[in-house]
Amino acid sequence: MLKFDFTNAFGENLSDGVRYEDIKGITGRLHSFLENFRQNPPGFSKVFSDLSHVDSILKMAERCKNFENFVLVGIGGSALGNQAIQGALRHPMWNSLPREKRNNLPRFFVMDNVDPEQIGSILDVIDPAESVFNVVSKSGSTAETMSNYLIVRGLLETRGLNPKDHIIFTTDPVEGVLRKIAIDEDIPVLDIPSNVGGRFSVLTSVGLLSAASLGVDIKKMLDGAQEELDRFKEEDDTFKNPVLLNAAIHYLYSQKGKSISVMMPYSNALYTLADWYRQLWAESLGKEKSLTGETVHAGQTPIKSLGTIDQHSQVQLYMEGPNDKVITFLRVENFRRKLKIPVIHQDRKELSYLCGHDLEELINYEQEATGLALLEHGRPNLTISFESIDEVEIGRFFGYYEILVTAMGFLYNINTFDQPGVELGKKNTYALMNRKGYESQKAHIEDLKKNLKTFKI
Ligand code: PA5
Repeated sequence: MLKFDFTNAFGENLSDGVRYEDIKGITGRLHSFLENFRQNPPGFSKVFSDLSHVDSILKMAERCKNFENFVLVGIGGSALGNQAIQGALRHPMWNSLPREKRNNLPRFFVMDNVDPEQIGSILDVIDPAESVFNVVSKSGSTAETMSNYLIVRGLLETRGLNPKDHIIFTTDPVEGVLRKIAIDEDIPVLDIPSNVGGRFSVLTSVGLLSAASLGVDIKKMLDGAQEELDRFKEEDDTFKNPVLLNAAIHYLYSQKGKSISVMMPYSNALYTLADWYRQLWAESLGKEKSLTGETVHAGQTPIKSLGTIDQHSQVQLYMEGPNDKVITFLRVENFRRKLKIPVIHQDRKELSYLCGHDLEELINYEQEATGLALLEHGRPNLTISFESIDEVEIGRFFGYYEILVTAMGFLYNINTFDQPGVELGKKNTYALMNRKGYESQKAHIEDLKKNLKTFKI
């Protein structure tokens, strides 16, 4: 069960903070959100309990397990969830473990960026004959994913390997070029439910095929997400409902000028969750227009930090720099491994306070200490505790944050589910690469560039 501690975020405990009464002031809107959600649950929340796709994912995963390498080809919402799951639930040195220590499961690679050195380096260490490539794209048109797909396919063809045996598409059930290729060439394909957008799709075939192929119990993850959904839907009291309370706190602080939201896990395994969260928070909430057409420039800039590392880097700024942040700590009550600090150097009192303690105690005291120090500097912070890191807790985290960001979008009165800013960048790329159909965008870009005053050295 995820536990939430909002103490250090309440204005009752720090100067100029959001107070109990401020939150009460927006309970009407919070309840409208809850009621709306109950009446019209968003597509992403329906997949938590819809197991109709799970069997086909598990069947496909059985095939993938026979390969030495599982290579995910995708970007953004079609890659970050996969990385978050693997980062949290797999051994940190997974790819370096001998196969028997990986329970005979594949190594895991991600081809997301189109950095030639990065992609080239993955191709240096995998044998295509022993690899399965899961090409994930909801739209089936994203330039990065399509170019990496073409590279992979070219490689398979050069090696005389049948693409059908090594490629699996995950894409929209109807739209896009991947669907067409799948139909024409009988390439195995999984559907992404059409009512679930990219960054909300981790608990669909997008995130679940790679997870299941590497031995993650995906049903447990879905159960965890569903539990958070039930906890949210069944609780009317804002102060007992962790979604409503957290949304109120973040929203009200953002109205008070806290334009940055930091997520700081005190656990390396949870660091990739913070990457997933950054996309969810940024793309869902960063919007120019409200639903009623006003210019609002909504959103909070999401930042990730890692405890304790960033205590020695970012925390100085968080403590004494601009007071423009709300900080969310993630902590783990029971780490999967214990590591005791030996009792040696007993005559050195500078070290003796460490001796005999487990690293788990130290990292968690450091988190608590940092939270309290920030509180004393008037910096609001809150803590989400994982009982331990397992499938259920990770599923809960995904479910919780997908609902939370939807609540934030409701309070901002913006469209949480679109991403017009990203789309424009995609269009510009197509135009610059001379894609057919983008001639007028190309003319527009050339015009724009012509009229710029250049400052180049
Ligand atoms: O959340 C989103 O919709 C985006 O971040 C997409 O996931 C990303 O742009 C990749 O898109 P696609 O899956 O269509 O290739």
